[in-house]
Amino acid sequence: MAAQKDKVLIIDFGSQYTQLIARKLREINVYSEIIPFDTSAIIIKEQQPKALILSGGPNSVYDTNALLPDKNIFDLGLPILGVCYGLQLIAHQLNGQVKPSSQREYGQAIINLNTKSKLFNDLPTNIEVWMSHGDEIKRLPKGFVVTANNKSSISAIENSKRHIYGVQFHPEVSHTEKGKAILKNFAVKICGLERSWKARSFVATKIKELESIGQGNVICALSGGVDSTVAATLVARVIGKRQLCIFVDTGLLRKGEYEEVLKAYKRMNLNVKSIRLGEIFISKLKNITNPERKRKIIGAEFIRAFQKEAKKIKGVKYLVQGTLYPDVIESSINTNQSVVIKSHHNVGGLPKNMKLKLIEPLRELFKDEVRKVGHNLGLPDEIVYRQPFPGPGLAVRIIGEVTRRRVDLLQRSDIIVDEEMKIANLYNKVWQAFAVLLPINSVGVMGDNRTYDETIVLRIVESSDGMTAKWSKIPYEVLGKISSRIVGEVKGINRIVYDISNKPPSTIEWE
Ligand code: XMP
Repeated sequence: MAAQKDKVLIIDFGSQYTQLIARKLREINVYSEIIPFDTSAIIIKEQQPKALILSGGPNSVYDTNALLPDKNIFDLGLPILGVCYGLQLIAHQLNGQVKPSSQREYGQAIINLNTKSKLFNDLPTNIEVWMSHGDEIKRLPKGFVVTANNKSSISAIENSKRHIYGVQFHPEVSHTEKGKAILKNFAVKICGLERSWKARSFVATKIKELESIGQGNVICALSGGVDSTVAATLVARVIGKRQLCIFVDTGLLRKGEYEEVLKAYKRMNLNVKSIRLGEIFISKLKNITNPERKRKIIGAEFIRAFQKEAKKIKGVKYLVQGTLYPDVIESSINTNQSVVIKSHHNVGGLPKNMKLKLIEPLRELFKDEVRKVGHNLGLPDEIVYRQPFPGPGLAVRIIGEVTRRRVDLLQRSDIIVDEEMKIANLYNKVWQAFAVLLPINSVGVMGDNRTYDETIVLRIVESSDGMTAKWSKIPYEVLGKISSRIVGEVKGINRIVYDISNKPPSTIEWE
């Protein structure tokens, strides 16, 4: 892949910001991948990166359980940038000294830069940065000089002969002024990397790669969302109708979504088999109120339907999935995450018993990159910019039992949210905007009559990847219009509330 020719490897020491380093590099068209902290220097060398970045992390380098990299990475001759804990690792492993700071430094700080350093070329001499550390450098390793400091401590060091650089602050977070310029200086001025990571080159190289599929039929589960559609379209560019896409209507999609998406698929010339199973899914959910049980039942039912269709096709060898990079990292790096928050319903459980090989053409990409690729492939905006939608659909937005009547109440409320967000030109500015139905009746008055009806929650959030999110400060007029339209148009709903919780501590979906 052209873009991978010039690759940066980011070694992950567990910082909450590690993914942001990858994102920021991609924004300057430099390709990067995140690898676990204990990847050996030999394996790193085999991957032929052009540079390494050591991420931040929650440990102190002196902790007994501190995450330490293979010391030999410093002898690979590659340019290295250490960020926060990464900087302290450089000092610690190259025989400098790190000590606990007299005061933990957290939040904004002004630092003074030596702009003769290649890392800080063309930057102002003072910038505001984001700090988060409890240790600091006490003694520099041999051959290193200080290139930035603040009132209380060393903020950056380097050994330009060995191309090893370290910063105490986080250039990857948006609170750091000129953070992207610093990463760009490292990638371009210090490492001389080619900025070739672009949607167009991705499409061309991915299509070439997919040519290795050869013979054998391929199936794909389409959800209507951007990820599975882009994945299927890429594969279709190579093998055309030899890919069969299965699109299941669980009866839990948004109002009109099944018909709308199906029309779009037909226009895109994808080979789609659609199956309507709404009644079955809803009947299986009778009397079920537990969120995890709902997810499990829907997941199992979906797999049953998918397998039934797949069995009808001869010689199926591959399964196409729209797995994205955050999913890959979550499952490979965060191996110590032992608590299941939600069982995400994906087709991931399928290949094990169906013995299919996986094709995951988007596994290096973030959501915004998938959108760029989709746009580049000429997919319609309604698909490319469609908001994410959970696999179990409206079932996890109907708190309490899922019944035909309650699905209908939610669908009719939800479409109003959708319409008004589009009218207000806010649909593409937020991550998701949707309605949730609560099993709570409250008293209202309509005309001269008393009502005792259910409640709708509006959930509108901003996010870049769904992993963290902020509730969106939507103008009151828009909220007001949505509220009066739902109460006026959807009989059975008499109260609307706005969810003002962030993720964490809440999640985006209610179940
Ligand atoms: P939570 O509720 O975990 O959601 O904060 C994060 C993002 O993931 C979406 N989501 C799902 N996506 N299958 C999916 O493919 C699922 O089971 C699922 N559950 C939640 C959610 O809409 C949000 O964008």
